Amino acid sequence: MTQIPASKANPNKASSYAQHVATLVSKYAQLLAEGQSVLIHSGSEQHYFGDDRGIVFQAYGHFAHWLPVNRPDQFVLVKAGDTPRYFQVVPQDFWYDQSLQIDAELEPVIHEVFDVVQLSSIEEVAEQADLTVCDYLGPNTAWAAAQGISPAKLNAPALLAPLDFARAVKTEYEIEQLRYANQQGLVGHAAAAECFLAGGSEYEIHNAFLQACSLLEYETPYTNIVGLDANAAVLHYQHKSRVRVSNAQLLLIDAGSRVNGYGSDITRTTPSQHCHPVMDSLITGMEALELAIVESVKPGVPYPTLHDQAIAGVASLLVEHGIAKVAKTELVERRIAHAFMPHGVGHLLGIQVHDVGGHQRSASGGRIEPPAHSPALRTTRMLSEDMVFTVEPGLYFIPMLLDPLRAGDAREVLNWPLIDELIPSGGIRIEDNIRVTATGAENLTRG
Ligand code: GLY
Ligand code: MN
Ligand code: MN
Repeated sequence: MTQIPASKANPNKASSYAQHVATLVSKYAQLLAEGQSVLIHSGSEQHYFGDDRGIVFQAYGHFAHWLPVNRPDQFVLVKAGDTPRYFQVVPQDFWYDQSLQIDAELEPVIHEVFDVVQLSSIEEVAEQADLTVCDYLGPNTAWAAAQGISPAKLNAPALLAPLDFARAVKTEYEIEQLRYANQQGLVGHAAAAECFLAGGSEYEIHNAFLQACSLLEYETPYTNIVGLDANAAVLHYQHKSRVRVSNAQLLLIDAGSRVNGYGSDITRTTPSQHCHPVMDSLITGMEALELAIVESVKPGVPYPTLHDQAIAGVASLLVEHGIAKVAKTELVERRIAHAFMPHGVGHLLGIQVHDVGGHQRSASGGRIEPPAHSPALRTTRMLSEDMVFTVEPGLYFIPMLLDPLRAGDAREVLNWPLIDELIPSGGIRIEDNIRVTATGAENLTRG
């Protein structure tokens, strides 16, 4: 079996992974009734319509929670009181390499903590257990239904709600993977900034990031966002222009790395010597605001208060830089500041970059809606120890959001000549990954 190199950064990885699986075993034991079992499926390979080309596979989150195996048709069968069983399907195939690419330090542990059953086709799974009595968690409900699993047992909310809610709080093993994904991502960010300052195009910067992190593009946790100047004002800008921009003002790069299924999500905004001095100063101010928000993190804080702090901070920056002519409270109350930061201050992070359960009220379900003034806020949870999320305030000059202000009541409140000078500078975002500790925060991105 081909194996990827072991990381140097996680000396306790094997034992912490074993502990992580033990935590999941007891979590599931609390959820499952006497005799109940659940089959968790990584998912099945998908193809483009009418084509034999496969779509990049990503294992289902609740499977990836158990196993660092990003391959289709892998299964965990969990029954309270039993060792979890791992149905490891490795097809015979001379077209593609079907080896599982498991982390070399974790593979022996998998054989200790699971009852590993090696199979060569998905059809053999039904020979291993009576699937008709199982619950099923996973994306291929058609396959599960064809095994005789009743509709009420396919992704049942009674199981999913507590599992989604619990994913927000990480084990020591998960935090280690996220720490390492941050360390790798920062190496990529340093290379990206260097490439930008040497005059690189978005395409060249993107490749510099990937190469420094030793990533293939499909291995990244999300599509890299690499925007020069005005492109930085498109929040999830997806293109990578091959054109070198002479005298580019700034680079906004939002890019992360992935370790054993856990992704980092990091944004840096780097000014060049050609940056508009006001934008340059706004970047410095945004960095200070981001770090101040992180200082507010501790257990018991409702996440939306971090968002409110970000919006108030953006309002202050607008006033301090002469972009707005009224008090910051007026900019917040009239939702003018919100047009300069139209996204939420962050989101839960882990196996999925926008991890599950961000709006969940409790382990049994329900929703806490984001406030009406910030519908894009992805997390409304109360912070608790070992939650991991991003803090990513931003400030953008987005013409389609500014035009209604210019045409409406706010036209007297804002300094339009200065805004018109800054629109070509695009936008700013600074994003770090944060763990809640017993008393405050660990910034995983800044060590
Ligand atoms: N990278 C996407 C985000 O920051 O949410
Ligand atoms: Mn991001
Ligand atoms: Mn993010």
